[in-house]
Amino acid sequence: MHYSNTKADNINMSFDINSLLRQNIKNLVPYSSARDEFKGEASIFLDANENSLGSPLTHWYNRYPDPLQWKVKEKLSAIKGIAPRHIFLGNGSDECIDIAYRAFCNPGKDNIIICPPTYGMYEVSAHINDVEVRRARLLDNFQLDLIHLENLADEHTKIIWLCSPNNPTGNALNREDIETVLNNFPGLVVIDEAYINFSRHRSFIPALQEYPNLIVMQTLSKAWGLAGLRLGMAFASEAIIEVYNRVKPPYNINQSTQELVLKALDEVGQVNDMIKWIVQMREELAAALTKMPGVQKVYPSDANFLLVKVADPKMTYQHLLQKGIVVRDRSRVELCEGCLRITVGTQKENADLIKNLETFFQK
Ligand SMILES: Cc1ncc(COP(=O)(O)O)c(C=O)c1O
Repeated sequence: MHYSNTKADNINMSFDINSLLRQNIKNLVPYSSARDEFKGEASIFLDANENSLGSPLTHWYNRYPDPLQWKVKEKLSAIKGIAPRHIFLGNGSDECIDIAYRAFCNPGKDNIIICPPTYGMYEVSAHINDVEVRRARLLDNFQLDLIHLENLADEHTKIIWLCSPNNPTGNALNREDIETVLNNFPGLVVIDEAYINFSRHRSFIPALQEYPNLIVMQTLSKAWGLAGLRLGMAFASEAIIEVYNRVKPPYNINQSTQELVLKALDEVGQVNDMIKWIVQMREELAAALTKMPGVQKVYPSDANFLLVKVADPKMTYQHLLQKGIVVRDRSRVELCEGCLRITVGTQKENADLIKNLETFFQK
């Protein structure tokens, strides 16, 4: 039997999240914080054991932040075109990954599938949670191996992790292949869209209406330039978001992050300008690298980095490091043999990189 790719065959029309949840999470009585219990207007707050005198910083940091970050979600809702109740915010995408394991995967019993080479935290977080990792390696063209995926899944497979555009290969996965997985796999499918703003391809957020087993992850760490603030997003059905909210630590997004993100979200125009620049510089960098004698291949990219195959990755990496330029050596990663992963920098940084590579390859 092969995964069918017709919509009429979507086996997940009657998807029930309760059949996937861990029993301890089904039974969980979540922590109820002072900020959860009181929602009205008041002027004197003596309910949360905060320091009523203030703080060494500006006055509001003595108070606990909004546990469900409604103001941030309302602004994100307008930008992403999805209602706030379908949004979860995490302390980076890494928290969104970890919560999926803690809510849905029984340690020592359940398994998940990743499609390497891909982002490392799906696997590390599985190991931390004692969840078996099964590997459906990408095909040589960096696309999904649907047959392998289907064969690896069993009744204990809770999650398939897809990353599109993928890190470190830079390409987007074929949309029809992702739809095939969504239509046929009875567990959760997480699509990590950390790099979607740099891509020619559409987000899967609107597809949440069709697929109750879908979770889309994005982050403010890449196109939004806010890696230091730690804000990851998960978009999913209300039922899934409700589970995430019950499992998360009560105040997982701190007050300063919420304040600064609210300000940043007003600057969509500036972010779009940066994205255009980065995409243009990515193409210029790719063209310059392709011409170099020591470069064997520059893979097409839908992200803000390039996967570049060179004759001698270790020596190239060391040479750049001596010149103060750090890139990522991915040459020991399966399917990425011989490759460096290079983030698109500023115009000057890219020019320095090219100059130093030219000198190195001319030796
Ligand atoms: C595919 C992918 N997802 C998630 C992340 C991490 O995101 P965050 O900074 O929100 O934890 C990265 C970081 O490199 C990534 O490549």
